Amino acid sequence: MDKRETIMTKMQFGPGGWTPDRIGSLAGKTYVITGANAGAGFQATRILLSKGARVVMLNRSAERSGAAIDELKAEFGPQAQVDFIRMDLAELGSVRQAATELLEMLPQIDALICNAAIAQVPARSLTKDGFESQLGTNHYGHFVLCGMLFDRIDASMGRIVVVASLGYRMGLRTIRFDDMHWERGYGANTAYSQSKLAQMMFAYELQDRIGASGRNVEVLVCHPGSSATSLISTSGGRLTRLVWWLMTKSPMVQSAERGAFPEVMCATEDGLEPRALYGPTGRMEFVGPVGRGTLEPHAHDKPVMVRLWDRSEADTGFTWSI
Ligand SMILES: NC(=O)c1ccc[n+]([C@@H]2O[C@H](COP(=O)([O-])OP(=O)(O)OC[C@H]3O[C@@H](n4cnc5c(N)ncnc54)[C@H](OP(=O)(O)O)[C@@H]3O)[C@@H](O)[C@H]2O)c1
Repeated sequence: MDKRETIMTKMQFGPGGWTPDRIGSLAGKTYVITGANAGAGFQATRILLSKGARVVMLNRSAERSGAAIDELKAEFGPQAQVDFIRMDLAELGSVRQAATELLEMLPQIDALICNAAIAQVPARSLTKDGFESQLGTNHYGHFVLCGMLFDRIDASMGRIVVVASLGYRMGLRTIRFDDMHWERGYGANTAYSQSKLAQMMFAYELQDRIGASGRNVEVLVCHPGSSATSLISTSGGRLTRLVWWLMTKSPMVQSAERGAFPEVMCATEDGLEPRALYGPTGRMEFVGPVGRGTLEPHAHDKPVMVRLWDRSEADTGFTWSI
């Protein structure tokens, strides 16, 4: 993005950037969000509920989901429309089962927010289906979930929001097709970066396919910047946890609530650009007013996007209808 575009983006939402004050009533709208019992996903759920929406959380832990629902109902009252379906993204059978239940439960999906992730997993591990854990959870799990819910979102003229990470700029900056599951040279950060880049490339390729087929789904990509959530404490190694803990004491890390703004914006705000990356626009794009950030060209490398789509279908055994 050039300087003029940056200034225009900042002007678009005022000097404070996008905030939930811009959202009107969401009564009658239904949002589905993955990984919503903690962190940015939990805060996004809070914001959506505060505007009168219905939210269905897809989480892996029944216990943590129950606690999250109790907390949300304590804040918004027993009538708050928040439900939970168990789904483990690291197990494609569980993703398929959850999507089937969701389709029975919801006639309408206004937005699916692909928020859940694991990060910085210190030693290589595999999902139930044999995929490297970060690629399997963050990309392949969401790839199948989005595919199974796509027709319902299309019929609702809804959106898919992909929550990415500035980590897409680190690591290899392309997809390692000859060793997708890191049998050689595994690194916690490189594998995480690759999984987030894969999620972005999936989103941009899906936009192209929607454009070519005239379907009615808007796909948007964002990231929470650097936010004080449980991401690193859940899956990171000891040293990463220490470094992250020190960082959270600095102004380079913002609250989990602010980290939720970009994904809520992408789920609710009209007129956003598809080929873009939304998130904080302040220091290093880690923190600050929310708007359109910098999107580096390697995330939109068309031959790699197409090859990744084909490879994702082959690896997951899931064929999209688009
Ligand atoms: N925080 C940051 O600074 C930062 C920076 C860049 C990008 N992000 C991105 O922001 C998004 C939200 O992360 P966060 O920071 O809010 O992290 P978080 O607090 O750890 O929340 C992640 C959520 O994902 C869920 N999850 C993890 N593995 C799952 C699985 N196999 N199946 C279903 N759900 C699963 C977690 O469930 P459990 O509670 O059961 O673990 C949790 O609810 C992620 O996409 C992450 O990559 C975060």
